[in-house]
Amino acid sequence: MLKIGGHTPKYPIIQGGMGVKVSGARLAGAVAASGGVGTIASVGLACDHPLYDESNYFDINEIAMSEAVEMARKLAPDGVIAINCMAALTDYDRQVRSACLAGVDIIFSGAGLPMKLPEYTRDFPDVALAPIVSSVRAADLVIRKWKKQYDRLPDAIVVETPLYAGGHLGATRMEHVTDAAFSLEHVIPELVKYLADHFDVDIPVIGGGGIWDRADMDRVFAMGAKGVQMGTRFVCTMECDASDRFKQAYIDAKEADIEVIMSPVGIPGRALKTPFVEKYISGEVSSKPCMAACLSHCKYLESGDTFCIAQALVDAYLGNWETGLFFVGSNAWRCSKIDTVAGIFEELTK
Ligand SMILES: Cc1cc2nc3c(=O)[nH]c(=O)nc-3n(C[C@H](O)[C@H](O)[C@H](O)COP(=O)(O)O)c2cc1C
Repeated sequence: MLKIGGHTPKYPIIQGGMGVKVSGARLAGAVAASGGVGTIASVGLACDHPLYDESNYFDINEIAMSEAVEMARKLAPDGVIAINCMAALTDYDRQVRSACLAGVDIIFSGAGLPMKLPEYTRDFPDVALAPIVSSVRAADLVIRKWKKQYDRLPDAIVVETPLYAGGHLGATRMEHVTDAAFSLEHVIPELVKYLADHFDVDIPVIGGGGIWDRADMDRVFAMGAKGVQMGTRFVCTMECDASDRFKQAYIDAKEADIEVIMSPVGIPGRALKTPFVEKYISGEVSSKPCMAACLSHCKYLESGDTFCIAQALVDAYLGNWETGLFFVGSNAWRCSKIDTVAGIFEELTK
């Protein structure tokens, strides 16, 4: 049984947050209603909100976050609803607070170390906190800081391997993406031992990256994980919030179409080799203007180099093949049809 703080999903399956708006309220609500943890990705929620007018991105993000949590809750009144908020976002604290006020159960946070997360949630002790890391060293840094400064421990820790995961990868350098030192086989047992050696309370470890079927899940449980986080598997579903064109790009993808690029955030990210990515690799990409200074470190904002990742991810969500950055996990080529969330849960849990 997986227990994250005070929250116990029926199944130990977490649908990973996928931005921009690939996992919105609809997917998260459907996953939570099926017995997993449904996660809304917080990044860029404002992008197609009726009140968004390009000058009020952060204010509308806050409203959109609150509305998304409420909508997911309506879809799954008894389910476990989470948000994924990237520590690298400029409005990290505002989004976290907005989700807490709206009644979210768990906050998953990676893409940078979520050092100050307990500070932003201190008025909401029932909200469980789960950092996303790719190494024991990163977990240790977060735990030490939380313990010393806030007397708080994580309620769970997600280990996401850059070898297979989608989107931004928990790797600071390209070489790490293929380094076996960052494999689940290596990190999960080491982290489970570290936690057992240092703490009396049970802090469950959740494994993510490249998990597709029940055999993959069982492999990760055998390493000592109490749960799995899955992203790519949930994209080609009726309920996924992305456009049909986004999902079709997954269905059409071959293994060779999946590429790892250096993102404007300064860390590697896994994406489809779209015309946009091909132009970026050959140094010819032309970017749309900065959407909202949404990242605390952005190469494009700082030097005009690379591109506005928010615009490129919104374009992908909307299905603009020529200008979109389509984030994928290494399993995207295995998507062959549109499923339902309930169907996937039936397969994974029988
Ligand atoms: C389209 C897409 C967008 C993603 N966006 C985010 C994000 O906003 N924040 C985050 O922490 N992880 C993000 N991820 C990672 C997922 O949450 C998940 O942990 C990861 O993809 C697991 O690997 P899998 O796709 O092989 O199952 C994204 C993944 C994909 C495929």
